[in-house]
Amino acid sequence: MKQLELTPRLRQLADWVPDGAMFADIGTDHALLPVWLVLRGRVHGCIASDLRPEPLRRAKATAKLWGVSGIVFRLCDGLSGIRPEEADTITIAGLGGENIAAILAKAPWTRDGKHVLLLQPMTRVETLRRYLSENGYAIRREALVQERGILYPVMEASGGETRLTPGQWYGGAKLLQDPLGDRYLIEKIIRLQNALAGLNRGSRDPGNAVKADELRDILTELLQMREAWRHANCPRN
Ligand SMILES: C[S@@+](CC[C@H](N)C(=O)[O-])C[C@H]1O[C@@H](n2cnc3c(N)ncnc32)[C@H](O)[C@@H]1O
Repeated sequence: MKQLELTPRLRQLADWVPDGAMFADIGTDHALLPVWLVLRGRVHGCIASDLRPEPLRRAKATAKLWGVSGIVFRLCDGLSGIRPEEADTITIAGLGGENIAAILAKAPWTRDGKHVLLLQPMTRVETLRRYLSENGYAIRREALVQERGILYPVMEASGGETRLTPGQWYGGAKLLQDPLGDRYLIEKIIRLQNALAGLNRGSRDPGNAVKADELRDILTELLQMREAWRHANCPRN
């Protein structure tokens, strides 16, 4: 029989879900991750939730297609419909970093140290890393995953402390050993250089000058992080 295959991004998340977890997938859409985990008997309980009815219908259709029962489907905004004791492992994947931060901000119980958060922002990753580091979360690990030519960071966080510099908001907290770390840093450097060039071409607004100085500092730090990555991974260079 055909096997349900996960894309590399979802597979990385699945690999980090502890066996026997009480699992909740927020913004589940197609529910591929919860269905895959239930099919393999990897989770003890499973909630799949979404903000909108149409994705939740898709989620139920996936479960039906694969003959999976036992997933609890919830229509709710973020974690508003999940009680803290219902889940010990929560994924929020495929949403923007700001959206993920906003969802966590409305559920402060997620930083009680009893919940593992597996987060996979599609955009504004720096906003999410900054939010976590300034609001009582520790980033325990990060990994880069390549899917259709794009690099996506996946991170595990829980209540605790991580102090991040502005360069780390962009370049990552735990990517020094990641095989894709160099490419990730190069992509960030190019993006910020373009942003800086845009600011330099723009108006002489003093706000722009301050922003340009901040970007230059972050770029300097990213270049240093790249040196550190090369030193750690290509010691002879
Ligand atoms: C691109 S899909 C991601 C699906 C899956 N998690 C993945 O990573 O492949 C994003 C889903 O998040 C849902 N979503 C967006 N904001 C949400 C929120 N505040 N609460 C719950 N779901 C949300 C959308 O309705 C959509 O179904």
